[in-house]
Amino acid sequence: MSLHIALVLAGLVLALTHFIVPLTYYWYLKRRYLHAPWGLKLDPSYRPRVTVIVPTYNEAMLIERKLDNIAEQEYPSDKLEIIVVDSASSDGTPEKVKEWAKRHPELNLRLVVESVRRGKAYALNMALGYSQGEIVVITDVDSFWSSRRTLLETVKWFSDPVVGAVSCIKKPADGRGVEDAYRQYYNMLRVLESKAWSTPVFHGELAAYRRRLLEEIGGFPTDIGADDSHTATLIALKGYRAITPETLQCIELVPEKMSEWRVRRAQHLIQHFVKMLRLWRRAPKQFRKILAVEMYLHLLNPWLLVIAVALLVIAALRSLSALIFLVVGVLLLVYKQYRTWITTQTYLVMAAIRNIWTKEIVWKKQEKSVEEVRELTVQSLL
Ligand code: GDD
Ligand code: MN
Repeated sequence: MSLHIALVLAGLVLALTHFIVPLTYYWYLKRRYLHAPWGLKLDPSYRPRVTVIVPTYNEAMLIERKLDNIAEQEYPSDKLEIIVVDSASSDGTPEKVKEWAKRHPELNLRLVVESVRRGKAYALNMALGYSQGEIVVITDVDSFWSSRRTLLETVKWFSDPVVGAVSCIKKPADGRGVEDAYRQYYNMLRVLESKAWSTPVFHGELAAYRRRLLEEIGGFPTDIGADDSHTATLIALKGYRAITPETLQCIELVPEKMSEWRVRRAQHLIQHFVKMLRLWRRAPKQFRKILAVEMYLHLLNPWLLVIAVALLVIAALRSLSALIFLVVGVLLLVYKQYRTWITTQTYLVMAAIRNIWTKEIVWKKQEKSVEEVRELTVQSLL
């Protein structure tokens, strides 16, 4: 067999593996769990004390609407505590919080201000120290809960003692192209993994934890970026379930510079899964396979595509078939699903490379489009 035929074959095998593994995983989970019960015993009247923690860094433009969204939740106010933890914002965020609190004396709100910014996880740990709730809910300012019952619904899942962490599925505020298509696939995957046992990917737009477990794992991790996913996975490693039910939905504002933002978030996920390489064996049986597949999908699978393309490009110098495969690969980009997948893989590869020189654990704030923010009313989102 000549060298270029070997290159073409190797390229094809790698490319097929790259696509077949995630598709098989998805189809398998869907067949097995789409209509399966959750296997939990829930009590809808469960009303523990809840602390909602809102971390802020330069969020003056959105913080009041965020607090409105929380205030509109149908949770008994004597069981609800809100802590806003700000890290040295320079745009007057804490002042806005104080003004808002004056207008809402009926709510139990505490503002904690750090004079130095050391990142979201540091701030969360600080707030955790002040919190009283049995359930601690973290929520980012640039996100909104899609119903007045979101908090009630979140808490309900904790009525089964095996549930240790609960998160939401996400919708981009404007349903924009790539971000929207990306979400549909991943949201479904998160829910199916949750039904199978637990998902290792959580969202800071709504990430709720049993406080006792947060204490047992030593609070939020400050050495990696993905405070949400890592915390949930550490809880799942202890045998509890970390789940994202499809009924819990968060709306998220997507920044203007989407690629920079997506690369940084991919980086944080990579940091999380790299750390899991050492820990995954401790996972309970039901969770071990899910975690293994997700580690593979985030850390290894994108590189199969890169190598496949490189091999085919080299082979294309001598082989027409290699050239045809490459052209077909490019032409398929007209399909949104495929395009979205390739974009995501590109972000993961860029993220792995960028991770070599910066971890960006304290990250650059991404600006949201001012018009979009101006038009945003909490009522319109509910
Ligand atoms: N107190 C404090 N200190 N809050 C911070 C800091 C900080 O240093 N940095 C960011 N925040 C706040 C923001 O104000 C916002 O409310 C929330 O943390 C999330 O920050 P974003 O800047 O909106 O993060 P993102 O959407 O790009 O990041 C996503 O991925 C992260 C992990 O990679 C979110 O899901 C985050 O929740 C998640 O931690
Ligand atoms: Mn955000």
